[in-house]
Parts: sequence; structure tokens; C-alpha cells
Amino acid sequence: MSAATHQFFAICPRGLEILLADELAAVGAQAVKPESGGVAFAGTLATGYAANLHSRLASRILWQLSSGSYAREDDLYAAAHAIRWDEHVGSRQTLRVDVSASGAPLKSLEFATLRIKDGIVDRLRERTGARPSIDRERPDVRVFCHLDATTATLYLDLSGEALFKRGWRLDKGEAPLKENLAAGLLKLAGWTPAQPLLDPFCGSGTIVIEAASIAAQRAPGLNRPFGFERLHSHDRAAWRELKQAALAAVVERAAAQLVGSDISTRVVDQARLNAERAGLRAWLDDGRLRLTAADARTVETPAATGLIATNPPYGVQSEPKSATVAATMSAVGDHLKQDFAGWTAWILTVDRALPKQMRLQETRKTVLFNGPLECRLFRFELVAGGYRPRAAAKPA
Ligand SMILES: C[S@@+](CC[C@H](N)C(=O)[O-])C[C@H]1O[C@@H](n2cnc3c(N)ncnc32)[C@H](O)[C@@H]1O
Repeated sequence: MSAATHQFFAICPRGLEILLADELAAVGAQAVKPESGGVAFAGTLATGYAANLHSRLASRILWQLSSGSYAREDDLYAAAHAIRWDEHVGSRQTLRVDVSASGAPLKSLEFATLRIKDGIVDRLRERTGARPSIDRERPDVRVFCHLDATTATLYLDLSGEALFKRGWRLDKGEAPLKENLAAGLLKLAGWTPAQPLLDPFCGSGTIVIEAASIAAQRAPGLNRPFGFERLHSHDRAAWRELKQAALAAVVERAAAQLVGSDISTRVVDQARLNAERAGLRAWLDDGRLRLTAADARTVETPAATGLIATNPPYGVQSEPKSATVAATMSAVGDHLKQDFAGWTAWILTVDRALPKQMRLQETRKTVLFNGPLECRLFRFELVAGGYRPRAAAKPA
């Protein structure tokens, strides 16, 4: 593999940038610089591959091909045309171009996208005699361009499908948490595999499945394809080496106590199937991972102390539902105070009123974005003796 240094940009949910910077530094990234919504870094192409394979927090890794000033759409055409696309893209491959902008002086991003696409296609036709076609659904190669007020930066996408797709999810469930947000939640909570973990609203099982993968030191990208595997410039030998090392690092017998429960038996069955697809059959069989049907208002305490990491149903979208969710969370608050003394609960929600509903005082609050949705991750310390039964309603 070439030792040349390249620039990359890792996209992630807002709120996870600093943690992602640490994660990237751990796989050898250099000049790591957190920005809003992602992290810029430098490294060899193998570093870019390793980031795809090992990052739990990134949504996508982009390989920067050029960056320069622009003022008009024609400048974007010239910037796209100047890149040696034939080193990366075959003439029979399909392409997709996406442009994002903040403060760009252009009238139409659609036209900007078209000019960039023309620049790429013309350059490829001049070099190879053939025009690649555009496929917005399942492109072989994705090109991204980011425009700020004066600079246009062109990237090749190394990831393909977004990185939070680990390759095990069959059913979308009701409202599954993205795997990289689940990993972020566990990281922010400081969870280590030595701590018992409970998700009492586990849905499709995302948080506990991610936790098992962390405990087993299983690289999150071991079971999925990547965009870079389709590039002409792909270095197969370097990729094979990285993957073999990641496989050898897996600790199948890792100790852990992970419990996911949900009120819906259908959802729990689905979570079990997901866990099996994630390679966790042995974990289910020997009880390191338990997925059970239970109501969070009465769920059993699995250990004397431990960590709860969860995202309960959100009730904000529809008002009648919101009252039900608030009542549930109030009862869950009572149950936690009574039966989970000594535990710490980390709860991710869009509902700012959650601590009030649960009658718990948060000891920390972190803002995290689930796409455009602004969420809060609340930490509650469940102290012994903190439970006082509610006063019975006074007779009228
Ligand atoms: C926002 S979803 C959780 C999504 C989950 N983190 C995932 O990644 O799939 C909320 C879940 O809470 C469950 N739920 C609702 N009320 C419950 C209750 N009283 N006890 C336990 N689970 C409940 C729903 O069935 C739903 O699966």
C-alpha cells in the first residue's frame, strides 16, 4: 500500500465529534480536527479503510480529492474536471453526486451538482472513451462536494452504505436507534463490559447488540461491504490484512451481562433474530445476552448495580400519546428509585420534560442530534433511600 498521506473527513451525529476524534486517533489518524458534524483527519489510504472498519461513531468516511476556491458554477466544473477520476472509477461504473452547502453564493445547488457531474463525466470520457451513467439509487461510486462561501471541497465516499448499518438489521422496528448513536450513548455513559447493562425499552436490540460487539472487540464493519471495495484504486491486499487483523482480535468468549427487555413480544422476537444475525447466538444461549419481554415499569433488577442505557418511546409527536408516555415514564421513575438503587441510568430522549415526569434530578445532560432531531442524554444516579412513595391523593 502507498504510504502517501491523504485528507479525510468523517461525518458523525452532532454531539459525538470529540469522541469520534479519539476513536480515529486510536486507528492511527493524524492531524485530527473535530468540526461541527464531523472530524477532519489525515492518514494513508489504509487509515481511511481502518476508520471505516473500526469506527463505531462515524456515519461515513470521505476521502478528500481536492479543495480550492470557487465563485461560479464553471469553477466547480473545472475543479471536478481537474481530478484524475479514471484512477478511481471504471467507465462502466455508475455514479452519484451530492452537494452540500453553507453560505454558498450560488443560486441553484442543482445546477452546481450538474456542473460537477459534467466535469467528472467529461474527464472520464476523455480518458477512457466511455461515459459513466448516473444512478441515484445504487451507485457504484459516490462523490460529495461541500461548498462554503469561497471553498469547494470534492470527496470520494469510502463507505458506501452509511456506517451505522452494521449488516445485521432485518426489520426496521418501530423507531430503531442508529447503531452509531447507540455506540455514542454507551461511550458517553462510560460503559465498560465489566458493568451489567440493561435497556428496558430495547426495541430491535440496538444498544445491547452494540454493547456485545464492543465487549467482543468485534470491529463494527466486519460483516458489511464498503464503497472503497468498488473503487479502481482499491488496495485489496491492504484491506485483507486489516480485516484479518480485526477478525483475529475478536474475543468470542468475552464476559458480559447484557439485558434487553421490551413490552412487545413481537419486538423482542425481532431483537433476538437481529442478535443472531449479528453473530450473537452463543451469547443468547449462555445468557450473556438476555432479551426478554417485560414492562419497564416492573422489570426485574438483573444485578445489584449496573448501568441502564435506553431510549424510551417519544411522545412529543402526537398529543394523546404524549400523556400515555408521560404516565409510563412517571411509573418507570418510581420503579427505578425503588428497585434500582446503586444503578446509573442514561436516558436518550427528545423530551426535555423527562426528568420532571420521572421525578428524578439529572446529574448530567448532553445534547445529541439524531439527524435533525435535537435529543438530550440525561444521566440519573439512583441512590439508595431515594424513594419516597407518592402521597395518596387527598379525599375531596
Ligand atoms: C424508541 S423505541 C426503542 C428503540 C430501540 N432503542 C431500538 O434501537 O430499536 C421504544 C420501545 O419501547 C417499547 N415500550 C413502550 N412502552 C413500554 C413499556 N411500558 N415497557 C417496556 N417497553 C416499552 C416499545 O415497544 C418500543 O420498542
